[in-house]
Amino acid sequence: MTMTVHPIAPEFAAEIDGIDLREPLDKATVSAISDAINHAGVLVFHGQFITDEQQQTFSRNFGDLETTVRAFRKDFVPRLDVHMADISNLDETNRILPKNDRRRLNALGNRLWHSDSSFKRIPARFSLLSARVIPGEGGETQFADMRAAWDTLPEAMKRRVEGMICEHTQLFSRAKIGFTDWAPEEIEKMAPVPQVLVRTHPGSGRKSLFLSSHAGRIRGMEDPEAKLLLMDLIEHATQPRFVYTHRWKAGDLVMWDNRCTMHRARRFDATEVRDMRRTTVAGTTPTVAQPYAEAA
Ligand SMILES: [Fe+2]
Repeated sequence: MTMTVHPIAPEFAAEIDGIDLREPLDKATVSAISDAINHAGVLVFHGQFITDEQQQTFSRNFGDLETTVRAFRKDFVPRLDVHMADISNLDETNRILPKNDRRRLNALGNRLWHSDSSFKRIPARFSLLSARVIPGEGGETQFADMRAAWDTLPEAMKRRVEGMICEHTQLFSRAKIGFTDWAPEEIEKMAPVPQVLVRTHPGSGRKSLFLSSHAGRIRGMEDPEAKLLLMDLIEHATQPRFVYTHRWKAGDLVMWDNRCTMHRARRFDATEVRDMRRTTVAGTTPTVAQPYAEAA
């Protein structure tokens, strides 16, 4: 079998055929996938009915895996291994979470545009999301091309935002949907982290906006002005011409580069099972130079 890459519209997403993610990959194939994602930002693999272990093995071809940030409350029982982010609507016994369950309400924050782990000092590199069980309708994931968003900003705006440093925390994104049910020890662990607003994507050398709903403040700017600027930039970056909507089939695996894309989940019937599992390839360096990072 030979791996092939098919660009899909818009041009920042591609489908990969001729590959079986249950099997170990040779170096040439890993390198071809790396080249493809450096160009496209989002890769779609169909018909990959893989186990959690196989997903982790495939993901480790691209770097170390993040461990999931556990809900910090002591009574939380995880459903999956520490290297698997549970993007489902299920509890630890595989039952659908009630509509008012705190875990479900918190996870609804994933319906806002974001970049995974931008609330960590070293944000994520790649995410790999595997669809195990999908609802009959809805539940799509949308991706926005942040390199195209940068390229199409007016020059005056480029000059204005270059060098800006934002602060990111899940407290900001959850507050946007009215979720504020945090324990004091959780708030303490979610202190805002600094991230540059414009970064250079290492895989392509292109500049990219680094936006996320976790961003809620810009250093040196009053909050209302900063929040409005961030809203304007997200509105610009998520115009339909920059967005790819992935309509899931069971067995799909989608890999994306968080350094040059944003994504969001779309609604679905909360009484149906949606079992998605994510592995996350960790970044290696903060986006902000250390002296700035410490000057919070
Ligand atoms: Fe996400």
